Order: sequence, then C-alpha cells, then structure tokens
Amino acid sequence: MDLDGAVVIVTGASSGIGAATARLAAGRGAKVVLAARRADRIEALAAELPEALAVSTDLRDPAQIAGLVKATLDRFGRVDVLVNNAGQGLHVPVEQIQLEDLRSVTELNFYAPLLAMQAVIPAMRKQGAGAIVNVSSMTSRMVLPGVGGYSATKSALNMLSGVARRELAPDGIVVSLVYPSVTATEFHQSLAAGGRVGGGRSPVKPHTAESVAEAILGVIASGEEEVLLTQDWG
Ligand SMILES: NC(=O)c1ccc[n+]([C@@H]2O[C@H](COP(=O)([O-])OP(=O)(O)OC[C@H]3O[C@@H](n4cnc5c(N)ncnc54)[C@H](OP(=O)(O)O)[C@@H]3O)[C@@H](O)[C@H]2O)c1
Repeated sequence: MDLDGAVVIVTGASSGIGAATARLAAGRGAKVVLAARRADRIEALAAELPEALAVSTDLRDPAQIAGLVKATLDRFGRVDVLVNNAGQGLHVPVEQIQLEDLRSVTELNFYAPLLAMQAVIPAMRKQGAGAIVNVSSMTSRMVLPGVGGYSATKSALNMLSGVARRELAPDGIVVSLVYPSVTATEFHQSLAAGGRVGGGRSPVKPHTAESVAEAILGVIASGEEEVLLTQDWG
C-alpha cells in the first residue's frame, strides 16, 4: 500500500505512537484522520498537517466509532488504512485485577479495534483494497508477571487479527499486527491501574514513538502479518 494520497485513520492520535504515526504518514502524503478523546490535541495536530481531519472520539462508545468512519467517508469518500493504536495498560497482579478495570481496558484494547475493523471493512471491500494495522504489545508474546489483564486483552486482539487477516484476504484487505515493547510515551502515566512491570527490570533503552511509527508504516507498505519490536531487558 502506497501512502501517497491514501486516507489513513489513526486512533489514539493525541499522543505517543498514534501522534507520531499520523505525523509520519502525513509527511508521506497521506490524508490522516485523527481520533482520540482530547479534541484540543488532535485539532492542534490536524492544523499542522495538510488535509488532516480531527474527529473527537471516545472509542469505548460503539456509536462514536461508527461516527468516526462516517466522518472519514463524508470528508474523503474512502478509507485506505485503519491503524487501531489507542490502548491502555492494566498493570496489576492477577489476584488484584478489578473486573471494572478489566472491562474498561477490554472495551478499548479489544472491542474498539473489532468495531473499527467492522466499520471500515465495507468501504475497503468496495474499493478492493485496504490495510488494517492492529497495535498489540510484546507483553502478549511473553508471560510477564504483573500485566496479565493488559496482556490478555492484547492476546485476544492478536487472535482476532490473525483470523481477520485470513478472512479478508480474498477482498484485498490486509490485516497486520505490530508489537511494540516499552516505548517512551504517556502510556505508563495513564494506566487503568498499577505501575511498573517486569519485576523491577526495565529495558536498557525504551523505544521512541517515532521508531514504532516507522514500523507501523513499514507494515502498511509490506503487508507483512506481524512485526515484533523486541528489546534488550538488561
Ligand atoms: N508505550 C509502551 O510502552 C507500549 C508498549 C507496548 C504496546 N503499546 C501500545 O501502543 C499503543 C499506543 O500507546 P502509547 O504508548 O502511544 O500510549 P499513550 O501515549 O498513552 O497514547 C494512548 C492513546 O490512546 C488514546 N485513548 C485512550 N483512551 C481512549 C478512548 N477511550 N477513546 C479514544 N482514544 C483513547 C489516548 O487519547 P485520549 O486520552 O486523548 O483519548 C492516546 O492518544 C497502545 O495500544 C498500547 O497498548 C505501548
């Protein structure tokens, strides 16, 4: 998929990996649609980027996800790429997981990507092409104490993505996964519950949001099934 002229929806575009992905994609000629709750942030970013659209969206609300895709189609008439990036951590031991927290994180990390995929599929099918990138986490490829709730939501997303990839291939829609490791963003300050993970160990050097954004654009271009951004944990 060539990004020049492509219409690209990025969820969680108000900070971190999502904002970096939107900037990078716009720099390569994409028309980006920025989705997140903090309207001031996405509107400011949209003002910096050519032909960008900010759509204030709470992805825990299915009606707002439908509204995001409708706003995209109303403005641009098509949707070429969906980057399901918005997400939140839940970093407590299994014994301490509160169902209310897990439910809320599941709505964002698992239900929202599902609903967003379902919302863009008809347009992509009509176009005969599309790319969907789901942003997972390397914690779902490890068995890391302290992040069971969060990792479970991402593991569910991994399976959904793999199945969707196979179901949608005949329609020309390519579904991929990117697995970031620890990345320097606001993520660890906005957890649903908990704090540091990894038994006090921390990676030698966190990734930058820009490097993860490069990987996301890379997978849009290549159509690879998954990209694992591994890290040295000292
Ligand atoms: N940073 C890491 O170490 C790391 C590691 C592995 C995987 N990841 C994954 O990478 C993705 C991006 O995270 P990040 O590191 O860039 O974190 P971040 O800086 O905290 O960004 C999270 C984004 O999600 C949005 N968001 C949260 N709740 C939302 C809601 N209800 N509706 C709409 N948007 C919502 C936030 O925007 P608003 O608050 O404005 O709504 C924000 O733009 C996530 O899926 C995360 O699980 C991150």
